Amino acid sequence: MNLKINNVTKLFGKQQALDEVNFSVNRGELLGFLGPNGAGKSTLMKIITGFLPATSGEVYLDNHKVSVHLPAIRRNIGYLPEHNPLYIDLYVKEYLEITAGFYGIKNKKQYIARMIELTGLGDEQHKKIRALSKGYRQRVGLAQALIHDPQVLILDEPTTGLDPNQLEDIRGMIRSISREKTVILSSHIMQEVEAVCDRVVIINRGKIVADGSIAEVKSGQLQGNQVVVAGFDRPVHPDQLMVLPGIKDVVWGTDAWVIESDGSGDIRPVIFRFAVENDLVLLTLQERQQNLESVFHQLTKTD
Ligand SMILES: Nc1ncnc2c1ncn2[C@@H]1O[C@H](COP(=O)(O)OP(=O)(O)OP(=O)(O)O)[C@@H](O)[C@H]1O
Ligand SMILES: [Mg+2]
Repeated sequence: MNLKINNVTKLFGKQQALDEVNFSVNRGELLGFLGPNGAGKSTLMKIITGFLPATSGEVYLDNHKVSVHLPAIRRNIGYLPEHNPLYIDLYVKEYLEITAGFYGIKNKKQYIARMIELTGLGDEQHKKIRALSKGYRQRVGLAQALIHDPQVLILDEPTTGLDPNQLEDIRGMIRSISREKTVILSSHIMQEVEAVCDRVVIINRGKIVADGSIAEVKSGQLQGNQVVVAGFDRPVHPDQLMVLPGIKDVVWGTDAWVIESDGSGDIRPVIFRFAVENDLVLLTLQERQQNLESVFHQLTKTD
């Protein structure tokens, strides 16, 4: 199923938590949703899952308005909310049985057994949720989100509180199930988003500030500071490069020119044409990737 967030705005009194948010996620896509504290991630996830109404705008699931077809749409959405609210007086298995019952699942036993295995809850399944450690509670939250085999998964910081071994397992699990599902995962861990997601959307103060593949976002083009390393077969004077359109800075690196764009667009075609026009052979033309963390800082830093 395809998810489309269309011009969603959310006001809490005077405070604007979301400001005309637009993006789409397609089936088979695993989208990392990043943003600093208070940026609006959880608010948008609540709107997508129908737990909170938007002030204006609409969320569509395969062209059906979520706000209109909510009961039917809930069967297709798995949601792990922030803070993972659970009924702590229930036993793990009992809780999953109730959740499965809520979705009207037929082979309940089979589904529950599969979820327990998938989330590594085997040894804890007969305990009360109250007695579980934080990481195990998180696994119960994931199990309830996945139990009805939903087509769309909305996971609000799914790996909080997991130990490094479990992190690997759960990330692997999310990655493998995402192949045939539509997944949005919010996180504060850049490394996680890089390791797991294909695409990233960054939100800051309710506004989308980046949306692209991990490589696109890391290229710096979105922040207007693309850096390209270029090497030619003959010496070139930096002034020749400085006069080219879209170029802000040129310095000599170890064995090639390091050229920074002024943010007006991709400068690689400009450098390529310069080489052709000057009968130079281009030995290197490579966009320098920044790390996601520094891109995140640049896009979300407060003045
Ligand atoms: N029920 C509410 N009433 C009033 N303001 C709210 C409510 N829910 C959220 N907000 C405000 O909306 C803004 C966005 O909050 P949200 O929880 O969506 O941020 P977030 O990106 O999930 O942050 P975090 O990374 O800390 O989880 C915040 O300023 C928050 O205080
Ligand atoms: Mg949140």
